[in-house]
Amino acid sequence: MPVTDFKVPEKYKYLNGFNAYHETEAVEGALPIGANNPQKAPLGLYNEKLSGTAFTAPRHENQQTWLQRILPASAHSPFEPRESSTYNTNPENKPHEKIHQIPNQLRWDPFDLDETVDWVHSLHLVAGAGDPTMKAGLGIFIYAAGKDMSEREAFYSADGDFLIVPQHGVLDIQTELGNILVRPNEICVIPRGIRYRVTLPQGPVRGYICELYQNHFTLPELGPMGSNGLANARDFQAPVASFVEDHNGENTYTILSKFAGHLFAAEQNHTPFDVVAWHGNYYPYKYDLGRFNTIGSISFDHPDPSIFTVLTAQSEHPGTAIADFVIFPPRWLVAEDTFRPPYYHRNTMSEFMGLIGGEYDGKTAGGFQPAGASLHNIMSAHGPDAVTHEKASNAELKPMKVGDGSMAFMFESCLMVGVTDWGLKKCAKVQPDYNAESWEPLKPHFKRPTPAKIENNLPRNAKGEIGDKGQVPHWTS
Ligand SMILES: [Fe+2]
Repeated sequence: MPVTDFKVPEKYKYLNGFNAYHETEAVEGALPIGANNPQKAPLGLYNEKLSGTAFTAPRHENQQTWLQRILPASAHSPFEPRESSTYNTNPENKPHEKIHQIPNQLRWDPFDLDETVDWVHSLHLVAGAGDPTMKAGLGIFIYAAGKDMSEREAFYSADGDFLIVPQHGVLDIQTELGNILVRPNEICVIPRGIRYRVTLPQGPVRGYICELYQNHFTLPELGPMGSNGLANARDFQAPVASFVEDHNGENTYTILSKFAGHLFAAEQNHTPFDVVAWHGNYYPYKYDLGRFNTIGSISFDHPDPSIFTVLTAQSEHPGTAIADFVIFPPRWLVAEDTFRPPYYHRNTMSEFMGLIGGEYDGKTAGGFQPAGASLHNIMSAHGPDAVTHEKASNAELKPMKVGDGSMAFMFESCLMVGVTDWGLKKCAKVQPDYNAESWEPLKPHFKRPTPAKIENNLPRNAKGEIGDKGQVPHWTS
């Protein structure tokens, strides 16, 4: 703390700040001054605008970036469907596949690595809600890849923003706007439409993705916490401009598009990574989860897990998220007379959890493992497993560090999340005994007290008299 000690060193430079307006030039003088669309752009470049919100979105929501590039993104052949019978990541548009809406608590064993595929073909939709054609909802993916994308390929999703949570391996991401290295314990957001290519410098990779079909991620409000805390804006890193020159027409590049969940491909005879400079606030970025300033109780009880929100994407109702990205980082527990693990609860929100590494302090019986996952859907009851309850109910309540070397996270959504055939069956990772191992062993400890004992428990004043009736809890019998 407060930064992660990464095994793989950083290799790129970044611009710091969340939702900051950045300017970056790979060649001095490439950005026009005081205008976005001059008749002749500097250095013989093309002006191109990338809109992340409607032109007329309110100023505080408006996201756009101006690109100064060697050739516009539109210079390619028509898109053709590719792998149309097999490639489908749209949760609601699956003619051959049912989305399972089930109230069961689900937990998955670690998902397998797959060294036979590249990034584009590594995306397995596990669960989701809504429809990218309506710009509504979210998709939750597991990715597992072992191959670099081809040297002459770029991929983009027209469907939404990718929030990528690596669990294993390193992603070296070449984007139109510059390069980003993403390692486990870092996250990365690649907004809708930005073209990129993923290579794997340390071999196979595996992790989780939340694709947001509506809105964009932002930092949560801090309220009475003040102006710092949780994820601080300065710790988010955007790439600096970096470009390739390959425009003599000799090489063919493929642009892969995920559009309404399906894959399309177009060709062009010049590199798509030719943005020499850009300015704006619509760009990919990354964040080291080790920099999260964790806040918690220093008296009794603990706050709701929303206190651990890194990024949020709000629905139309402020405070109600299409997707919250929440982490459970290493932290000190000091609360007095408190059951310290998460409380038992049923939630109007759905909760998809994953584990990057270590052991999550809310589940210590061993079934929730790194690269595994769980889903507690709307109003599906959950909480600490029986082993954790037993330990926590009898633990000595001294200050205690939990989660050392661990990082669990949650995608929390106000939407009912359906599970795909792949997620429920084909991946063959669903644990049939989740409830039997977790909650069915819970024992009742209730003992009806005698009236004398009740009297002994009532609050008393300094003279030992039972207090004012207004302070006395009600009981029947
Ligand atoms: Fe929960």
